[in-house]
Amino acid sequence: MRHLLSTRDLPRAEAIEVLDVAEEMADTGTREVRKLPALRGKTVVNLFFEDSTRTRISFEAAAKRLSADVINFAAKGSSVSKGESLKDTVQTLGAMGVDGIVIRHGASGAPRVLADSAWVDAAVVNAGDGTHEHPTQALLDAFTMRRRIHGADSRGRDLDGVRVLIVGDVLHSRVARSNAWLLRTLGAHVTFAAPPTLLPVTPRPFGAAVHHDLDAALAEAPDVVMMLRVQQERMHDAFFPNPREYTRHYGLTAGRFAALPDRTIVMHPGPMNRGLEIAGIVADDPRSTVVEQVANGVSVRMAVLYLCLTGGDRTGAPTTSTPTAEEATA
Ligand code: CP
Repeated sequence: MRHLLSTRDLPRAEAIEVLDVAEEMADTGTREVRKLPALRGKTVVNLFFEDSTRTRISFEAAAKRLSADVINFAAKGSSVSKGESLKDTVQTLGAMGVDGIVIRHGASGAPRVLADSAWVDAAVVNAGDGTHEHPTQALLDAFTMRRRIHGADSRGRDLDGVRVLIVGDVLHSRVARSNAWLLRTLGAHVTFAAPPTLLPVTPRPFGAAVHHDLDAALAEAPDVVMMLRVQQERMHDAFFPNPREYTRHYGLTAGRFAALPDRTIVMHPGPMNRGLEIAGIVADDPRSTVVEQVANGVSVRMAVLYLCLTGGDRTGAPTTSTPTAEEATA
């Protein structure tokens, strides 16, 4: 894997490989020495033009656990505010020597432009571009589902037949899009529940089935309910009458949660609007995977950085539950 730009064009075998390598990375997290030498001598730049808590910190933790040097760049406070272009910013970083660029950008397609350009010779990982894709979020979501469903027997498995209901602001959600592509590649059945105003105008958006009635969709007893954040910062129009109406029709309230089967898990990529799309009591329930998703994000991003920056070269990869002398001093 040279770059990770999207899940739409990620083959099933490569997706399973990322999830399986992430399992190995997660195993190293239980050891006394959690650091691996796999990316020693390599430099990863976190290039964030949009705000982030989870993704940026998770990529930083992942790169550091693999012994890479990490440079954090935030557009706020940089020469971007003086009008510097993406090309000039990237060429400036490239001149300092970088092996991997993790980019979050408000413009859909910016990571692809960077990967296809000759501005810098580095692996490019999309950390969220506009309303287009957020591939590592989808991979960590799939990893979390696989672990909850298959447990210790997860390696090599897909999500064949798993029924996933994705609820809310699909229109503005790169998480929904990346999940829909990846989950379908892994054999899951994906349904969206959303008001018509918050769905793309097409009969089967991203190949998913559609419900406009959340209660009818929940009555089908999905295995996974994934709530999406209402992205008010991207809404320049009235997409629903008011927050109370939204919660009444599309919120995962305590009442709706209580009616779900015990096996159904609840996911949310964060950050959450507690009380709007998800009740606080639901977010904090043991069947909610919100915190688990964040923890799994580090393992999945370690796997993605490792595969993109080394091409899967096993030197320095985690192999045993006991650190080698080299790993111990990494
Ligand atoms: N899920 C997610 O992308 O969160 P952040 O915006 O905090 O990175």
